[in-house]
Amino acid sequence: KQPLTITKLKKMKQSCEPISMLTAYDYPSAKLAEEAGIDVILVGDSLGNVVLGYDTTIPVTLDDMVYHSRAVARGAVNTFIVTDLPFMTYRLGNETTLRNAARLLQEGRAHAIKLEGGADIAGEVSACVRAGIPVMGHIGLTPQSVHQLGGYKVQGKLEREAEQLIDDAKALEAAGAFSIVLELVTEPLAEAISSALTIPTIGIGAGRGCDGQVLVYHDLLQYASPYREKRFVKTYADLGTTVRNAIGAYVSDVKARSFPQQEHAFGVEQEVLQQQLY
Ligand code: KIV
Ligand code: NA
Repeated sequence: KQPLTITKLKKMKQSCEPISMLTAYDYPSAKLAEEAGIDVILVGDSLGNVVLGYDTTIPVTLDDMVYHSRAVARGAVNTFIVTDLPFMTYRLGNETTLRNAARLLQEGRAHAIKLEGGADIAGEVSACVRAGIPVMGHIGLTPQSVHQLGGYKVQGKLEREAEQLIDDAKALEAAGAFSIVLELVTEPLAEAISSALTIPTIGIGAGRGCDGQVLVYHDLLQYASPYREKRFVKTYADLGTTVRNAIGAYVSDVKARSFPQQEHAFGVEQEVLQQQLY
C-alpha cells in the first residue's frame, strides 16, 4: 500500500468517497492507525493537550512537532502524514513560515503541513505551495487563538461570521491549499463551505456535510483525554479504563507475589539460556 497523495484526496471528494483522518503522536499510535486503514494521519498540535498535559496548544514548540512527527513517520511508513505548524511559527513572514514548514517535512518526515487561519495567511499558504510544500488549512474554532476567541465555542453562528468563514475558505483554496479542516462550525455552514469548494473539507464538530472527518486519537479511544463529554466526539473504546485496570492488576500481582511465576523465570535449561529473547 502506498500513501495517498493530494491528487487522490481531491479525487476522493469528486467521487464522494469520505476521507478518514485521525491524529497520532508516536510510533504505536501511528502504527495502529495505519494498520486500521486510516486515510490520513494528522500529527496535531493537540499533542500539547493529550500527550504533554498543557491546557492549550499555545506552549507547543516546533521542536515538539518535529520530534512527534518523526516518531509517527516511523510507525506509519505507508500513510499520508500532515503535521501542524504550532503557535507563532508562521504569521511572522514568508521566510520564517517556509523555514519552519521545511523542518516538518525534512526532519519530521511529514508529507504536508497544516496551519490555522484564513485569508489573513493566504500569502504564507501560497509561498509554501510554490515551494512544493502541500498545505492543509484550518478554520472555524482555531485552538491557537483560544484566548482571542474567548473559549472553545461553535464558530460562524452570526451571518457576518459565517460569510467571513466562507471567504476564508475560498481564499485558502485560491492560495493553493489542498484541503481545509473545519472545526466546530454549524452543520449548515460546513455544508455551504464544502459545496463552495473543489478541495475537500475535513470536519471535526462540523456535522455530516464535510468531505471527511477527523478526531483526536485520545478522544476516540477515551485514553486519558483531558476533555470530557464533547458532543462531537464518538468514543469507540474505553482504553483509559482498560489500561488503568491492567496496571492495577499488575500492581496487585506484584504485591501478592503472584507475578512472576515459574514460567516467567529462567532456570538452568541450556537451550533457553542460549536463545535470543528479543
Ligand atoms: O491538533 C489537532 O488535533 C487538530 C485537529 C483537531 C484538526 O488540529
Ligand atoms: Na491542531
